[in-house]
Amino acid sequence: MSNIVVVGTQWGDEGKGKVVDLLTAGVEFVVRFQGGNNAGHTLEVDDRQFIFHIIPSGILYEDKKCLIGNGLVVDPEVLLEEMEGLKKAGITVGPERLSLSEKAHMIMPYHRALDLAREAAKGKDKIGTTGRGIGPCYEDKITRSGIRAVDLTEPDVLEEKIRTNLQEKNFLLEKFLGASPLEAEPILDHYLAMGKTLAPYITDVSVELDQGVKAGKSILFEGAQGTHLDIDHGTYPFVTSSNPVASTACSGAGVGPNQIHHVLGIVKAYTTRVGAGPFVTELNDETGDFIQETGKEFGATTGRRRRCGWLDLVVVGDSVRLNGLDSMAITKLDVLTGLETLKICTGYEVDGQMVHQRPASLGKTEQCKPVYKEMPGWKEDITGAREKKDLPQAAVDYLSAIEEITGVPISIISVGPNRIETIVVKLPGS
Ligand code: GDP
Ligand code: IMO
Ligand code: MG
Repeated sequence: MSNIVVVGTQWGDEGKGKVVDLLTAGVEFVVRFQGGNNAGHTLEVDDRQFIFHIIPSGILYEDKKCLIGNGLVVDPEVLLEEMEGLKKAGITVGPERLSLSEKAHMIMPYHRALDLAREAAKGKDKIGTTGRGIGPCYEDKITRSGIRAVDLTEPDVLEEKIRTNLQEKNFLLEKFLGASPLEAEPILDHYLAMGKTLAPYITDVSVELDQGVKAGKSILFEGAQGTHLDIDHGTYPFVTSSNPVASTACSGAGVGPNQIHHVLGIVKAYTTRVGAGPFVTELNDETGDFIQETGKEFGATTGRRRRCGWLDLVVVGDSVRLNGLDSMAITKLDVLTGLETLKICTGYEVDGQMVHQRPASLGKTEQCKPVYKEMPGWKEDITGAREKKDLPQAAVDYLSAIEEITGVPISIISVGPNRIETIVVKLPGS
């Protein structure tokens, strides 16, 4: 099979985990390339549900290799908890099944403390981060004071870095944010101990992937978050601190652009967003409540209620361009069942003009009024559909409108959370 990048096209939680799990059957490697445990990827197989925050969603297949790329910020405590959780579920994860890039940056307790204290200080202007320390950890990476996985295996280096970093972090925490300072010793002891456990997993992921490619193996790149949470292209500053767009698969896993053969965009059949920030098609009415309840739209990481709205094809259209989408997987189509009329946003009206790209200005975005195409809904239960011809005509028309407006073919249609509740129109990359 080809090497495929799976990315979110909206504000995250599009159903990337489910699709990655499904596609893992056809590859040898599954690699994450950005983000951290702000992600929550849910998989349902048979009657079991799994939520992964750091470990790639391919891990349920015993003969596949999962890799955590250099582009991630990794909380080693969360990684170890996740490995332990899998063991309890009867899935043993050893170094032959999981690798952690030696260059991935480590989330430290002071990153979490700074994330929480900064959000508290922002009050009503807060971003609504997951509080996992993602932003502060990426900050350290960019200012070149970060701690990488390899440092966990070198006690002297780790100690020096923790002591130096804490001088600045404690000043900020105590003097600027009014939060409690942290002590170096317990952090050092804890991270050295975790480093010992993780040492067999710490490798050069780029080299491992390269060797695999040379041996004819294929790679699935698992994106986290979504294109409109991208630090460059998203609804800044209401974004995450990494680049969830497809091109990051190269820098965040350590492969060249010629290793990407297909970019698959995951599109939820409607729109959701967790945390603050503009959302042009948001529904603060009973239709929004219907979607939220039927779609069980609660955050997989923080348990927060997700904001819901109509499908916004301005948002998806930006993602087509920013990621170079080859095909789309439409997820959660079943959630729309029962709605009399469906609306698709095809453009925004702002200052008396129609626009088809989201403006960079936050103020302008907030003034945008959605322009909708209305379509009839369907009443039939579609969760049992396994081929496109099993779908009611109204559902087929809804999908055709998405393809027509975006200009991108739909390769997968998801009609339920379970692995089997899927219609594969054309296997991506085949
Ligand atoms: P991710 O972050 O993109 O992997 O998505 P999440 O796992 O955070 O959120 C997607 C949620 O929708 C999860 O609870 C999935 O189990 C669920 N899900 C995925 N696809 C479908 C679908 O087609 N129909 C329904 N009803 N639920 C789905
Ligand atoms: P997956 O991979 C949805 C959001 C947070 C917040 C903003 C910044 O499951 O799709 P951060 O903690 O990253 O600094 O928070 O980004 N956010 C997500 N929203 N799905 C995610 O991941 C998200 N990861 C971060 O809610 O608004
Ligand atoms: Mg999620």
